[in-house]
Amino acid sequence: MKIAILASEGAPYAKSGGLGDVMEALPAALSRIEGNEVVLILPYYKKIKENPKYEVEQVAEFQVGLGWRTQYCGVMKLTNRADDVTVYFLDNDYYFGARPGAIYGDDDDNERYAYFSKACLDTMAVVGFIPDVIQCNDWQTALVPTYLKAVYRGMFPNTKVMYTIHNIEYQGWSNANFFDDVLRLPWDCRNTLDMNGSVNVMKGAIESCDLVTTVSETYARELMYPYYAHGLDGIIAGASWKLTGIVNGIDYNTFNPETDPALPAHYNADTIDEGKAMCKAELQKELGLPVNPDVPLLVMVTRLAGHKGLDLLCYIARRLLNEEDIQMAILGTGEAQYESFFRGLEAEFPEKVAAKITFNLGLAARIYAGGDIYLMPSKSEPCGLSQMNAMHYGTVPVVHATGGLKDTVPGVDDKGENGLGYSFQSYNGDDFHNAIKRALKLYNEDKEAWRALQVRDMTTDFSWNVPAGRYMELFKQMIGE
Ligand code: GLC
Repeated sequence: MKIAILASEGAPYAKSGGLGDVMEALPAALSRIEGNEVVLILPYYKKIKENPKYEVEQVAEFQVGLGWRTQYCGVMKLTNRADDVTVYFLDNDYYFGARPGAIYGDDDDNERYAYFSKACLDTMAVVGFIPDVIQCNDWQTALVPTYLKAVYRGMFPNTKVMYTIHNIEYQGWSNANFFDDVLRLPWDCRNTLDMNGSVNVMKGAIESCDLVTTVSETYARELMYPYYAHGLDGIIAGASWKLTGIVNGIDYNTFNPETDPALPAHYNADTIDEGKAMCKAELQKELGLPVNPDVPLLVMVTRLAGHKGLDLLCYIARRLLNEEDIQMAILGTGEAQYESFFRGLEAEFPEKVAAKITFNLGLAARIYAGGDIYLMPSKSEPCGLSQMNAMHYGTVPVVHATGGLKDTVPGVDDKGENGLGYSFQSYNGDDFHNAIKRALKLYNEDKEAWRALQVRDMTTDFSWNVPAGRYMELFKQMIGE
């Protein structure tokens, strides 16, 4: 099957979050399935262009019309990719080159990704890759299904489109003028893209595509409710007949405690005793905490954003630190209020708390390995990847039972059996506190059951093999195979 995957970010080239991780592993997993030909198209951001590791060859160039604008596009094929995925970077210095900051966040983001979505379709036409299916992701490539049906059908008579929602919070809103000024689609597309008098590209994608997926089964159900859908609950309900949830995997090549180059010691489920103990001691040293194998180390690697449940942690942190013999480590950057809260907490409990307000992938891996308990109380979480990373490294998660957290972390019983971690149902600090207490009780009182739980976490299959198979089933369904 010919599969085109279109996205605004993909590791290792450019990544701001989980979407980038998925765009590293999913194309690779699909390309390993016999008979598949996989193309991945990404913007040629300045930092990719300037990275000598990525060797490219220009294979095409053309102009993209966007309303009254005409914009250059150079198609740069990556020539030194190790696996069978063909990667094209789309080069345009105005949109992707001369932007010094993060990937997103510019005032003209809507125009940048409208350009990208259209240019992806042109690229496939120009290089002669006519896919059976296109898989596109989040608001940045949400115009693809609408453009395909309204303008490019002639080039792609049989191509089907799957639209995947990784996070419904970001929808690509603009004012109505954007339709004429930038998109200039046929008149009847107005209705597809209109949402309360504005343009909403995610809404357009949900209506235009052949299948909608999101990144966990629970999130797919949650999206029907206003609490989770950020205004799109009605639209989602109307599309529920074509909506499916597929839980992401994690990339076992990158996240593997047996080989991860960032770790001071390597281990697997059989050698967890020595390996993890060494990782814990080294981590305590690195964090400036007392080295002590017995004190439980609670860890969190996260963007410091409100929906990650940090308000709950702020609410219970002092109580927990005062009543329990624990250590706590937080790694991440984000909202100023949380950055200063955790800095303050470290100052107040220097022997117990380490707050690393920075972005550091190596330290993140050492935290997954050296921690005992992984906290992830997200208010909502479409899938979440770090709880799976943590489990794969033998660190037991405590999560809010929402979205992918609910699907990947079934709760254990009173004996710590028959599950993979601890969860709480309703979003409040006291229930979170209670879930942590239950985890600490097992850790402190039943070493054997704790070890068995860690081994279950490590040996559960979170690889991309299962989800890649599910994507294939849906692709086949779309093309009628
Ligand atoms: C988004 C979601 C996260 C998910 C990731 C990959 O970042 O917020 O839950 O794991 O996309 O699908």
